[in-house]
Amino acid sequence: MEPDGDLGLVLRFNRTQRAVHWLHAGGFVLALLSGLALLVGAAEELIGHRFVLRVIHIGAGLTFALAPLLAARLGDWHSIRADFRAAQWWDAEDRRFFAITDDSGGSRAGRFNAGQKANLMFTAAATLFFLISGAIMWQYFRFDRALVQNAGMLHDTLTFTILVVWLGHLWYALVNPRTRHSMRGMLSGYVDRSWAASVHPRWLGQPNASSAAEMKIDRAAKQEGGL
Ligand code: HEM
Repeated sequence: MEPDGDLGLVLRFNRTQRAVHWLHAGGFVLALLSGLALLVGAAEELIGHRFVLRVIHIGAGLTFALAPLLAARLGDWHSIRADFRAAQWWDAEDRRFFAITDDSGGSRAGRFNAGQKANLMFTAAATLFFLISGAIMWQYFRFDRALVQNAGMLHDTLTFTILVVWLGHLWYALVNPRTRHSMRGMLSGYVDRSWAASVHPRWLGQPNASSAAEMKIDRAAKQEGGL
């Protein structure tokens, strides 16, 4: 769906929220590719020594897990905390979202629907377990052999589980006609107000849903030194 003009836009993700997302996504893709290359072993011939692949992988893994945290701390930390809080609480609408038998009308979702909340919580937990198991595999000589083996098994299981979840995420962000407009929010920050009204109706009207016009007035006031 195309936006219907400047006044019809609403800010969905600020700069910090977008930086956190893209650092996490960029680190993820590189960690996934280098991790799979380590697992398969065939890419070693192409890239060279396993050591290089390992350095790339650990660097990508740390970017995936820690760079978003750093960006959040340096940027608008409150907006990141608010998003986590919004994803933490489940309400009747969320239960309706997962109830296959309930087909009573359109979405009544807030800032995030139940699928997005589940994705966010799963991703946060998976990131933590990737970091812990990866650190044990990295510093394997400090740990018990059995612990290192278990960490490796957990790391591999997480890889294939997160791959399935990520493909679902890509489908909603790039293919599904009803939800793919959300990609615009993650690229430019703004989404069409009428799209938000249909997909996230209860989010509109909340303080973190400012319109493009309000943002402009805000910026102009700041430039004049009024605020
Ligand atoms: C979060 C930080 C991460 C750290 C610190 C980390 C660290 C490591 C280390 C040290 C290894 C062993 C490399 C070797 O063979 O010597 C490894 C392997 C691997 N990692 Fe990660 N990793 C992280 C995140 C990820 C992510 C996000 C993925 C996939 C999405 C991933 C997938 C893999 C795979 C598939 C392997 C090969 C497993 C194997 O050899 O059994 N890792 N990782």
